[in-house]
Amino acid sequence: KWPQRVTIKEVGPRDGLQNEETTIATEDKITWINQLSKTGLTYIEITSFVHPKWIPQLADALEVATRIERVPGVTYAALVPNMKGLEKALTAQVNEVSVFMSASETHNRKNINKSIEDTFPVLKEVVKVAKQEGKTVRGYVSTVFGCPYEGVISVDQVINVSEKLFEMGIDELSLGDTIGVATPRQVQEILEQLLKRFPKEKLAMHFHDTRGTALANVLASLEMGMTTFDSSLGGLGGCPYAPGASGNVATDDLVYMLQGMGISTGLHVERLTEAALFIQSKIGRPLPSHYLQTVDVP
Ligand code: HMG
Ligand code: MG
Repeated sequence: KWPQRVTIKEVGPRDGLQNEETTIATEDKITWINQLSKTGLTYIEITSFVHPKWIPQLADALEVATRIERVPGVTYAALVPNMKGLEKALTAQVNEVSVFMSASETHNRKNINKSIEDTFPVLKEVVKVAKQEGKTVRGYVSTVFGCPYEGVISVDQVINVSEKLFEMGIDELSLGDTIGVATPRQVQEILEQLLKRFPKEKLAMHFHDTRGTALANVLASLEMGMTTFDSSLGGLGGCPYAPGASGNVATDDLVYMLQGMGISTGLHVERLTEAALFIQSKIGRPLPSHYLQTVDVP
């Protein structure tokens, strides 16, 4: 009943680092991404072209994106909130851009300083121009499973925002549990509704592990046939404009679970561990992943 193979999309260099207080040197980000490129990952979200005042950690986006080694077969993606971000992403020649918005009005305003209604035309133009430039486009909907400001978000609101994004022409939609409140039953109930409208091949799951439910939510999603998961090596991560948001589900924990279940990920565990130890040493404190705690730090 489980898929035989899943795709893991590594968001550590973006979602993982954006909330991190320790400033990571540009050189170290580049080294880390180059390590990640050799782990078998086929997708890495490397940075975001947002306002540096909002996300100071990623102020070096252009430099990171232009200086990393591009390994054939790996899609290098970056987040863009508007045309200004897209222009930089195009200059940097990323393969894919990700637009993002929230199903919650309040979180959308806090995160990108606009109402949901006013966000649609901005993203519509970004998607249109990105497609003209030959890029694939990913969309994110945040707060699908709950909002730090508004609490429960209706499935109808999630569907409304998702439909608008697909109408714009996005290739894939990632469903964000921004503050890690989801539980497996809720995941199944929401997916049941969404899968009536959107093909599962076009949906990805983006769990944060704030309350320790991320892997359980992955399992619930697998049972619904989902095959694409976002994660962050070592469990780094969080959204600075969502109080209480902590790390993404850890790539290393996810890989351990999936491989143990006989589901292939194409990832090389030892190389992943090496890359996790590298970024942990730069962050200077133990990362939240469970798997990493079983590894002897050299
Ligand atoms: P704003 O202040 O409303 O922007 O910010 P504006 O259009 O009014 O412009 C103000 C100034 O910003 C202008 O400069 C613009 O040029 C400049 P000035 O003329 O005053 O010198 N500007 C920019 N500079 C650099 N890059 C840009 C850019 N755009 C405008 N792209 C904005 C609006 C969207 C830019 C801002 O709110 C922002 O950068 N927000 C980003 C917040 C963010 O990155 N949040 C985290 C990512 S989302 C997330 O983590 C959730 C996710 O993981 C899924 C999940 O877990 O749910 C994806
Ligand atoms: Mg996130």
